[in-house]
Amino acid sequence: MCGIVGYTGSAQAAPILLEGLGKLEYRGYDSAGIAVRGKEDISVVKVTGRIAGLCEKTDNGKALEGCTGIGHTRWATHGAPTEGNAHPHLSNDGRFAVVHNGIIENYQTLREELKGKGYHFDSETDTEVIVHLMEMYYKGDVKKALIQTVNRLQGSYALGVLCKDEPDKLYAAREASPLIIGLGLGENYFASDVTALVAYTRNAVYLEDGEFAELTKEGVSFFDCLGQPLAKQVSRITWDVQAAEKGGYDHFMLKEIMEQPGAVKAAISPRLKNNAVVFEELKLTKEDLAGIRKIVITACGSAYYAGCSGKYVLEALTHIPVEVVLASELRYSNPLIDASTLLIVISQSGETADTIAAMKECRAKGARTLAIVNVVGSTIAKLAEDTVYTWAGPEIAVATTKGFTTQLAVLYLLSLYFSKLLGIAGEDYAAHIRILKSLPRLIQQAIDMNHSLPKLAEKYHRAKSLFFIGRNTDYAAALEGALKMKEISYLHAEAYAAGELKHGTIALIEEHTPVIALCCNRRIMEKTLSNIVEVKARGAEVLAVSYRDNPKILSVADDFIFIPEVEDLFSAIVEIVPLQLLAYYVAKANGCDIDKPKNLAKSVTVE
Ligand code: G6P
Repeated sequence: MCGIVGYTGSAQAAPILLEGLGKLEYRGYDSAGIAVRGKEDISVVKVTGRIAGLCEKTDNGKALEGCTGIGHTRWATHGAPTEGNAHPHLSNDGRFAVVHNGIIENYQTLREELKGKGYHFDSETDTEVIVHLMEMYYKGDVKKALIQTVNRLQGSYALGVLCKDEPDKLYAAREASPLIIGLGLGENYFASDVTALVAYTRNAVYLEDGEFAELTKEGVSFFDCLGQPLAKQVSRITWDVQAAEKGGYDHFMLKEIMEQPGAVKAAISPRLKNNAVVFEELKLTKEDLAGIRKIVITACGSAYYAGCSGKYVLEALTHIPVEVVLASELRYSNPLIDASTLLIVISQSGETADTIAAMKECRAKGARTLAIVNVVGSTIAKLAEDTVYTWAGPEIAVATTKGFTTQLAVLYLLSLYFSKLLGIAGEDYAAHIRILKSLPRLIQQAIDMNHSLPKLAEKYHRAKSLFFIGRNTDYAAALEGALKMKEISYLHAEAYAAGELKHGTIALIEEHTPVIALCCNRRIMEKTLSNIVEVKARGAEVLAVSYRDNPKILSVADDFIFIPEVEDLFSAIVEIVPLQLLAYYVAKANGCDIDKPKNLAKSVTVE
């Protein structure tokens, strides 16, 4: 989704803006632009497509003079990805340039009003109304004009504003879209996420909804919608620069897949003490939990599938019924939720608009909220009564991998923790702790056991359609496996509960249709085996994901992905890893833009 950067200092702004935008590429975008206050005026350069084009047009920024500027990567919502629609937008008098993330919901009314007053529009975007409002309200005081402008806006925005009359200043405002101020020495920044800031500073201030910032090279002041000064806390960014770079891998996705043993360890280890799960960060008490009658998990995309997997473990260990609901559905479903509901919200970015809306809806109905989030200080992390961080580190590839497995790890931990808190932890508690400890090693083994994946990808990459089947925890993993395949290789892939095949889907199985059969849950494996036989009888090519010691599978499947032995309940976190790799190699064989798949965004901050 769109990215914003801003810089003011003594260095040339454009190269810094371009570098910052480069770090935000992973969020997904289809056009980009920068605006810099030059000697006399604001210069704007925009391109459709990649930032490389912007670098080319500006000689890597060197062609643009000036030490204060703003930049933007746009993911088209209102209007096609054209140069005209790309940000920054300029006011008619050329005095203001604005970059914006989010959606202005009342832009049509504002557009008509502004047109009526003689302002002309150069784009189809919702954003352009902002820059014209700035011009309309400006009477020599930018701060005042910004507050008046923002008062007219409905919707979500992170705004960066540059004014020709104040050559060394930037303004920023936030409502429901992330914006972080980076504090440097003799220079200051803003950006929509910390990955654009880490190369320059570790000191950050997270703007909250309704807050504004005024940046000069000497310092940053914060104010509210009445213009009253605000004291803000400075946070330390702990992510390191290398963590946001490829480190020798061809793609961020591959690097992040390989990082999973470490990431899962970082999520689990600090929470295991004296052979028990501890969550020092949780405020939820034994009494609170005893009053919970139902757990609702809500999320989008892969985070939703992490919830689907987590449901099995939570229900098995806590005996509390769990519903998993897509956030985009939950928010409009008038859910039956009250104070006896624990809402678990899962989000890597912590900024997904649908997830935030669903969370607010359930909070309003009295639900207790617990968020599982990766990005520290994100909106969801702040909204929740309890937040558990996944500690996965920065995830740059749009398709999540370590974000997903660390979410699963936290769900496993929570399940064990809750079972103990409720006093119903079984005899297998100690064994489960041992299993959690072993997961990083098992994930590493699952990677090491599957060197033939590029070869398998060669076999399957031309398929029209792939089917992923499994039951129970295998089914949940199949959902995520199919999503990975779709997201990055653009092949049609569907996951089905293996037992559901015969109720319709089997009609789609033809000679050589690839069926990826997940058989890692021993309790239910025999049943899936029958489904494998059914699809084989109709000509399917079966790629089984299972254990080496499984003679029945070995005798029916055509190809294999092996994983190390793992307890049924926790098998999804291990079996998904080779499926991520399979999707990666299939996408590679198809020549896809793996880290930035078409039409997708890392963090979807619009509805
Ligand atoms: C987008 C991404 C998905 C992600 C989903 C939820 O659609 O492309 O990979 O799973 O958002 O994101 P979140 O940050 O809330 O986990």
